[in-house]
Amino acid sequence: MGYQEAYDKLEKYGQLHVLKYYGELAKEEKEALLTQIEQTDFDMLSYCKEKETLNPRGKIEPVGAMQLSEIEKKREEFTRIGLDAIRAGKVGAVLLAGGMGTRLGSDAPKGIYNIGLTKEVYIFQRLIENLMDVVHQAGAWIPLYVMTSDKNHETTTAFFEEKDYFGYNADYVTFFIQDMAPVSDYEGKVYMETKYKISTSPNGSGGWFHSMMKWGVVDKLREAGVEWLNVFAVDNVLQRIADPCFVGATIATNSAVGAKVVRKNAPDEKVGAMCLEDGRPSIVEYYDMTKELMEAKDENGEPAYNFGVILNYLFREKDLEEIVARELPLHIVEKKIPHLDEKGELVKPEAPNGYKFEQLVLDMIHELDSCLPYEVVRNKEFAPIKNMTGIDSVESARKLCQENGIEL
Ligand code: UTP
Repeated sequence: MGYQEAYDKLEKYGQLHVLKYYGELAKEEKEALLTQIEQTDFDMLSYCKEKETLNPRGKIEPVGAMQLSEIEKKREEFTRIGLDAIRAGKVGAVLLAGGMGTRLGSDAPKGIYNIGLTKEVYIFQRLIENLMDVVHQAGAWIPLYVMTSDKNHETTTAFFEEKDYFGYNADYVTFFIQDMAPVSDYEGKVYMETKYKISTSPNGSGGWFHSMMKWGVVDKLREAGVEWLNVFAVDNVLQRIADPCFVGATIATNSAVGAKVVRKNAPDEKVGAMCLEDGRPSIVEYYDMTKELMEAKDENGEPAYNFGVILNYLFREKDLEEIVARELPLHIVEKKIPHLDEKGELVKPEAPNGYKFEQLVLDMIHELDSCLPYEVVRNKEFAPIKNMTGIDSVESARKLCQENGIEL
């Protein structure tokens, strides 16, 4: 894109301040900025004006889950079906590791955080160890796709190399980079990270399949015969991946997607709860839980919205292309955004000063006709690390690992 075209595009979106330093840039810097302007979707920024009304909710109703007692009864059958699918190469795993992990307060990728006490135990290592359990059980490698972002790709791939993939077969590991989205002030004006770069942030956990398509990963996995993708978050160090029983249950019930859920520990716990929305499977985020929903009871007197999602979903690959073509809802989230100030100097704000624009993987569930909420034992499979201390922290995750006999 030439200067004039870039100027016209920015003028259309009221973003001409992006060119403020253009005159003083070196040739390569000018080129980099023009390319970024060409590739940036400025359309989404205008939505910040209607942030509160952007994603109206439909009619929310409770939905049941396949509970532990039922799973126990069919464990053998489900496990056999799951192992058959894994051995036939039909199951892949997708590690979402593109997030910024800002709550943990480290600039490094979350997965390279060491939670060990007497030895090194990295978050990535814990996930690979868990996946290896299934590899051993099935006697087959499971393709692992790792999503990174521009901000952490080099460090993540170098770390896997340095640690020799923690014993995983590198031939079965594919990295791909997620897309970025511009970040803006409260008026929707993009911030500048440098004089020749618009500030950006990863475009959310929902961008994974689109990015996989863009990098040619989907074509390859189709060729290889992968039919199911188990998407999971980087930060749950007890995460069971490609769990044969879960895979088998999703296949046996002919569900379009399986979602691992845990019993919530309180009606206001900060996890999304499985529900029906306008009769279709959906997830009501904790900040959308009204008092009425929190107090609702089922026929047994249990909380009606009692099953929280843990970001572990098994998607049927053939449905995904259609879902991403439909455009997922946009979520606009307040954020602390480092940026150039009026004098062209970099400032790192102490408080939120603008918005990031994201799509979320949980919104993919609502696009599907059927979903199997599949209960897992909370203390065995859910140890998220969001913060340094307190709830969902390094501390709480260490305690849960130790309870499960994992040496740290
Ligand atoms: P979180 O919602 O915890 O977001 O991500 P985050 O960006 O990692 O952390 P905070 O909010 O800044 O502290 C849930 C999962 O989705 C991935 C994360 O890496 C994590 O596995 N994710 C999130 C992405 O891969 N890309 C994104 O753009 C956002």
